[in-house]
This record gives sequence, structure tokens and C-alpha cells, in this order.
Amino acid sequence: MGTSTHIAPIQKSSHLQKSKHTQNTCPIQANAKPAPVHLPPKEQARKSSINTAIAKPFVKWAGGKSQLLNKVQKVLPQDLASRKNITYVEPFVGGGAVLFWILQTYPNIKRAIINDINQELISTYLAIQNDVENLIQELLKFQQEYISLAPTERSLYFLEKRQAFNKKDVAPTRLAALFIFLNRTCFNGLYRVNAKGYFNVPHGKYANPKIADESNLRACSRLLQKVEILCGDFEQTSRYASRNSIFYLDPPYKPLSTTSAFTSYTRQGFDDTEQIRLGTFCQKIARKGALFIESNSDPKNINPKDTFFDSLYETFSIQRVSANRMINSNAAKRGAISELLISNVENV
Ligand SMILES: C[S@@+](CC[C@H](N)C(=O)[O-])C[C@H]1O[C@@H](n2cnc3c(N)ncnc32)[C@H](O)[C@@H]1O
Repeated sequence: MGTSTHIAPIQKSSHLQKSKHTQNTCPIQANAKPAPVHLPPKEQARKSSINTAIAKPFVKWAGGKSQLLNKVQKVLPQDLASRKNITYVEPFVGGGAVLFWILQTYPNIKRAIINDINQELISTYLAIQNDVENLIQELLKFQQEYISLAPTERSLYFLEKRQAFNKKDVAPTRLAALFIFLNRTCFNGLYRVNAKGYFNVPHGKYANPKIADESNLRACSRLLQKVEILCGDFEQTSRYASRNSIFYLDPPYKPLSTTSAFTSYTRQGFDDTEQIRLGTFCQKIARKGALFIESNSDPKNINPKDTFFDSLYETFSIQRVSANRMINSNAAKRGAISELLISNVENV
């Protein structure tokens, strides 16, 4: 661990360069509701509804935080909307539910750093940032081809694309298109790899999946223009810790039992040693003056005497919040459970 990975650079498409410097064709600007001018910034952010965000995660991702946004917001510093020079850091960005929401809710955040160990996911963020029009064209082609096929032919088409994705022998924007296509058409939108690191989720059976969500991809691209995108282990983000930074950490959750959790985002996995390494990381960034909020599972759901996180984060605040989780393979065991929000934010 502790390494960062080089991701092949993507040429900026001429369209994007043009739109950045000359005309603004992005729908996020045209459709954005203007904030009420008579409200102070703090009040504006509070009023901003969780559901009015225009840019939303472009992939379905296990552990996505869309449903917990209002709970995360309550833990954020109350004066966040009026703070200047804030750097937002998300070391386990995944689908980016918190990233996209926070950048739209707090436009005063001028700088953001995101990181994930999943190279293909990060390549896709880079393609959306730098080559969104070509990416959309690739996805529109996949969409037309896939939707016109009969169910059995669709399964074959999916397997062909999964093989091409695992071979990785394609240009970065094509790899990003394959990544999004597979996410939209595979079983439950899961991302799971086998011991060799190959994506192995089977074909899903959605009748009419939206493979090319053009307006959302352009809205994401627009927001990502102010984001620095890194690929590697979470520890490399500690260099951004300062009195002006806020970290949101959403690591792979500690499994509640051997059957209850989905933990195979990566070949390496994320065991208790990794959770302890993350605890040490939080102490380190807190010492540098950074604020942090971390989500994790609550082992007390299964064993009320389990104090793993209470001990690991004893010097920080731990809140228990309710969440609906759909990642149990046994449908009967899905439902509301308690999750942790660990932080060093003091809201008085
Ligand atoms: C729970 S998901 C994040 C979910 C995300 N916040 C969302 O809203 O969709 C955890 C992420 O951590 C990443 N990850 C796993 N081990 C990591 C490591 N050592 N360093 C950085 N990222 C890691 C996985 O690839 C995965 O995307």
C-alpha cells in the first residue's frame, strides 16, 4: 500500500477546450436555480435541497451515500457556506455522491481533491473531466446497439464488452465508456473483481437501461473542472491536510458478518488492519488541523459489546445514524441498520 498509480493521460477534446474558454454550453449553468440573493450564504446552503443537485453519480456504486447526505450535512461545520479557501478532500471517492452534492451545495469550495484505488474508476473520472463529448459519443453507440438487441443477444454483447474491458487494451476514453456501459447493464450495478483483478459481475436484466446520460455527464464534467483527480492508496491524500481542509472518508465498510457485506471493490480487500491504518491516518490529518467525517458500519448491529470503532476513534465524536442497506445477498436481511459517522467537527 502507499503507492499511487499512473493513469494514461487523456487528450482534452476540442469541444471541451472551446466550451471552457469561449462559450458555455453546459446545462448545469443554464438550468441552475439562482440562489436567493437576500439570504446569507449559510442560510442558502441550508435551504439548498438535497434533491436539487444537477450533477449526480454517473455510476451506481455499492455503499453510495445518496441517502445519507442530509445526515452528513448535519455533521459538517455550520458555517461551512461562509468559509473561504476551503479544500475538500475525498480519499475513497467511489461513485462520488458526496462529492457532487457538496460542490453544488457549497459553491464557495473552490478546490477539491478526489482519490480512489480503482484505476478504471479514476480513468473514467478523468475521461469525464477532459473528454466528455467523445465519451458521450461512445456511450450513445453502445446504447443504440444494445437496446436494439433481443435478450439473449444482449447477454452476448455484455460478455463481449466485459472481455474487452478486462483486456484493457483500448484508449482511455473507450475504457471509460466500457466501464459505464458495464455498470449500467450488469447485475445490480455492482463493481466486483476476482482474485486476478478481473471484473466478474454477471449481466443484469434491465429492460431499458440509460447507458448514455448526456446531461448528467456534462454536468459532472463541468463540476470536475475544479477537482484534482488522484489514483492510489488513501494515505497519499494526507499531504492536503491543513487548517483549511475538510475530509470526507467513505472506506469499504468493516463487514458485519462473513455473509452480510460486499467488500470486493479491489483485489487487496480492506480488513481490520486497514481499518486501523485508517484510524491512524485520521489522527494524523486531525493533528494537522484538518476536519474529517468518516462513515463506517456499526458492528454493534450484530454484537452490542463490539467496541472496535469506539476504541479506535475514542478521541473523536461517534454518531449512530440509521441507513437502508441493499447490499445483503439475502433479501430478507436488507433494511434499516445503524451506521457510524465519526468526526472531529465540533458544532456548538
Ligand atoms: C464505500 S466505497 C465509496 C462509496 C462512495 N463514497 C459513494 O458514494 O459511492 C469505497 C471505495 O474505496 C475504494 N478503496 C478501497 N481500498 C482503498 C484504498 N486503500 N485507498 C483508496 N481507496 C480505496 C474502493 O475502490 C471504493 O470505491
